[in-house]
Amino acid sequence: MSKAQKFKALRGFRDFPPEDLGLREHLFTVWRRVARRYGFQEYDGPPLEELALYTEKSGDEIVGQLYNFQDKGGREVALRPEMTPSLARILSHRSRSLPKPIRWYSIPQLFRYERAQRGRLREHFQWNVDLMGEEGVEADAEVLAVALDALRELGLEAEDIRARVSDRRLLAALLRSAGVPEDRLVTAYTIVDKVEREGRDRILDRLEKEVGLDREAGEQILSLFDSPGLDGVRAAYGSDPEVQGALREVEAFMTVMEELGLGDFLEFDLTIVRGLAYYTGIVFEIFDRKGEFRAICGGGRYDALLERVGGDPLPAVGFGMGDVVVGEILKERKLAPEYAREVDVFIVSIGDELRPLARRLARSLRDRGRSVTTPLRSLSVRKQFQAASAEGAREVLVLGPEELARGAVVVRTMTDGTEREVPLRELAPELQVPDLAGA
Ligand code: HAM
Repeated sequence: MSKAQKFKALRGFRDFPPEDLGLREHLFTVWRRVARRYGFQEYDGPPLEELALYTEKSGDEIVGQLYNFQDKGGREVALRPEMTPSLARILSHRSRSLPKPIRWYSIPQLFRYERAQRGRLREHFQWNVDLMGEEGVEADAEVLAVALDALRELGLEAEDIRARVSDRRLLAALLRSAGVPEDRLVTAYTIVDKVEREGRDRILDRLEKEVGLDREAGEQILSLFDSPGLDGVRAAYGSDPEVQGALREVEAFMTVMEELGLGDFLEFDLTIVRGLAYYTGIVFEIFDRKGEFRAICGGGRYDALLERVGGDPLPAVGFGMGDVVVGEILKERKLAPEYAREVDVFIVSIGDELRPLARRLARSLRDRGRSVTTPLRSLSVRKQFQAASAEGAREVLVLGPEELARGAVVVRTMTDGTEREVPLRELAPELQVPDLAGA
């Protein structure tokens, strides 16, 4: 009877045995390749930061999910729940000397004390791509193009995924015209961000209590979300000059996305607000079209954050894409790479007296960069071949006394079982036949 497992990974935390690490590495490889293709450079920062970096900048939702504690020196610290505040801090005093635009990316592991559920864990890896020092929609579009290109490279096309796009300036103009006071705008964002999850009545209550809007004004806001397309907004509010200006920005953004060849992925959607407090312009989230999964990616423009963490003012736009949701989608669509154990060469010795030569040959091949395994104890020839298959060897080198007497070894290609004799000298020039005598 097997013993009950005493220690398990904490809830919401993952182990990565090789087959799972394979998928994670596949994502990281594509993320890095696409970021570099757009000229982004990789950076990193510490996983533990001062608590105040988040309590002041990220907004209540993330603050409620912090892994925070007092360290032994009495400092209030937190594991990073997102990368953007660290990026703003790292850049705050460096940005002046850097050529603009600054294009940086990172793949940090992040920690949020969330209710662990499908697509949401307490740790995840998040690809962050941020562009600083440009304020126009061309920069916004380029950043979203990076996200979409990575998903395309992973095998997801416009029929699989869509980017839902809105603009906080547009939403601000609409909320103001519904009577939301300036100092309540950020609170109103976080409330309407929950429209899809919390339901009308709760949203109306919260708008009344937290923003001071009566039911009628609240209904007016919610009606915006009933037909959240650009045409609906234009029809209802197009005469408001502030709304007009914001609409022009969104339209310009859409045009650049068309020119970048990604128009099919886009949908304007006013219900995309984003939970984080610091966004100031275009905001977007990418979803699977069937709506089975949570957001794959989220981001937007945040022009005031660098100044707010004490640095030089610098416009910025970026996104975060987690490894959890995209990993689930790839598995479901059979787009995840097959996991296979692999080694270039397995060396079989016919007779224990040839095992020292097997070790020398292994050394020589590894020095040439090949991956090589050979049994670590005496095994029958049949068992050695079984081990070679189990290890996923592409080739087996058979050291046998008869062939070695001719200075040769047998090379078997495992895919088709063909065999040929190859002079040992060719495989490992420094292992001359005289070495055999000492083997
Ligand atoms: P976020 O929307 O909080 O944005 O997270 C971005 C993405 O990370 C989500 O769409 C989701 O794929 C993934 N993610 C977030 N939380 C979890 C979780 N608990 N478990 C699994 N995956 C998760 C940000 O964090 C912004 N700082 C992104 C950004 C960068 N904005 C500008 N630059």
